Amino acid sequence: MSFEKEIQRRRTFGIISHPDAGKTTLTEKLLLFGGAIQEAGAVKNNKIKKGATSDFMEIERQRGISVATSVLAFIYRDKKINILDTPGHKDFAEDTFRTLTAVDSVIVVIDVAKGVEEQTKKLVEVCRMRKIPIIVFINKMDREGKDAFDLLDEVEQQLGLRVTPLSFPIGMGYDFKGIYNIYEKNINLFSGDNKRNIEDVIAFDTINNPELEKIIGTKAATDLRENLELVHGVYPEFDREEYLAGNLQPVFFGSALNNFGVRELLDCFVDIAPTPRPKMAEERLVKANEKGFTGFVFKIHANMDPKHRDRLAFIKIVSGTFERNTPYLHVRHNKKLKFSSPNAFFAEKKEIVDISYPGDIVGLHDTGNFKIGDTLTEGENLHYKGIPSFSPEHFRYINNADPLKSKQLFKGIDQLMDEGVAQLFTLELNGRKVIGTVGALQYEVIQYRLEHEYGAKCTYENFPVYKACWVAPKDPKNDEFKEFKRVKQKFLAKDKRGQLVFLADSQFSLQMTQQKYPSVILKFTSEFE
Ligand code: G4P
Repeated sequence: MSFEKEIQRRRTFGIISHPDAGKTTLTEKLLLFGGAIQEAGAVKNNKIKKGATSDFMEIERQRGISVATSVLAFIYRDKKINILDTPGHKDFAEDTFRTLTAVDSVIVVIDVAKGVEEQTKKLVEVCRMRKIPIIVFINKMDREGKDAFDLLDEVEQQLGLRVTPLSFPIGMGYDFKGIYNIYEKNINLFSGDNKRNIEDVIAFDTINNPELEKIIGTKAATDLRENLELVHGVYPEFDREEYLAGNLQPVFFGSALNNFGVRELLDCFVDIAPTPRPKMAEERLVKANEKGFTGFVFKIHANMDPKHRDRLAFIKIVSGTFERNTPYLHVRHNKKLKFSSPNAFFAEKKEIVDISYPGDIVGLHDTGNFKIGDTLTEGENLHYKGIPSFSPEHFRYINNADPLKSKQLFKGIDQLMDEGVAQLFTLELNGRKVIGTVGALQYEVIQYRLEHEYGAKCTYENFPVYKACWVAPKDPKNDEFKEFKRVKQKFLAKDKRGQLVFLADSQFSLQMTQQKYPSVILKFTSEFE
């Protein structure tokens, strides 16, 4: 197959949702359609269990198997589909944000009863800012939930999207009869009380066909016609270009658990979802069909086995082909590296591949060369940008609990930070080290891993910080900045890349600082170089 055709057949995306909306179930059903797994439950077992908020052993166990589920690839209708796993657990939100830099589109799963939830809002905001094409899947239609129009309103208002339904439910919960597929112009009927099976797919060229009454009953037929009229009157026509530009979001309804509405979603996704998109580097925009290979690291996964300290760096291929045993330039180190066993991922396994194409993810064994955000090229001096770092939610001093092992401790901290487990800040005043995390869980993970992988021991001490802000003075030489640095010295630190960070201890002090030093801009996110 030609290079161009290989690109055209790739769809790389992520599924995002608030925990429990049905992301795992939907993923599994997609894999079943693709023939990538044989039975339900295969993906589910890999999920970080609810309530595991402080059970780091469970997290460790998950980490071991989650390599396999980091990327789930399968073929459907001759398209190569790569699903990038995004952890739903909020303590791993940062991981999800980073993964979103490697997807070409997303599917957002929303629970029909719960509507738009917190985690969904945050994730969709990131996608919206980056103009990532979004499809919305409203799940659990077999249960009583919100009215479809109310929910569409909620999605528009709370997620800031402009939606257009491509399917519409006929009833809901106990009365759920099926779905009218606006995109394909047919009806899928649900069967029986358990609503487990699709009874029939009936094509309807026109919704005014009197057969409709016979099939779903007079009331449901009248309601459906009225609803569809409203849909056509209120929502914009689907326009693929608008969807691809991130300006219009198609909506599907269904029930992942019952495998209902999933095929419609997948078929439409395969038709409309983007092929590997161009990506912005500091120097220029890089298109997928350029011959020269380029890619970037968006995730690093440590080996579970302490005897093999190597890690797996996940590279998204942006352009050209990545070939085994070929030297590529590690731009940050200005060094050529060759990889003899690049891994490709499938639904339940990974295996060594000779060649990979734009949109694909390869896993490279790494002994400490890579950092999240690193760029690899065929030789061009190129730096992909846009892997953001957000202010952590929790901050603690990290202390060495075994003075004989300080070297191991620093090495361990250094490598864990490269993996993106947490963020490290070094205080300007006294050089003390502070670890910032999104969830409290990471402190246990770090402590456990330092001990088991690096033989180092640490303790923590609370450090009350409200928010970390990256400092960007309009003029680093002006007196206001000098004054800011002098007065706020106690609250200043350097992040791992040496950028100056202001650790505000309260919202009030943050506001006061912003007012007092208007020329010192305080930013809430940082971009890796
Ligand atoms: P997540 O990955 O987004 O966190 O959600 P997950 O798929 O694990 O689904 C959360 C719960 O919702 C699961 O039930 C799952 O079976 C259920 N679910 C998913 N899709 C549907 C649907 O279309 N209809 C209904 N009624 N339920 C759905 P659980 O009881 O928490 O887990 P389990 O015991 O089924 O494994």
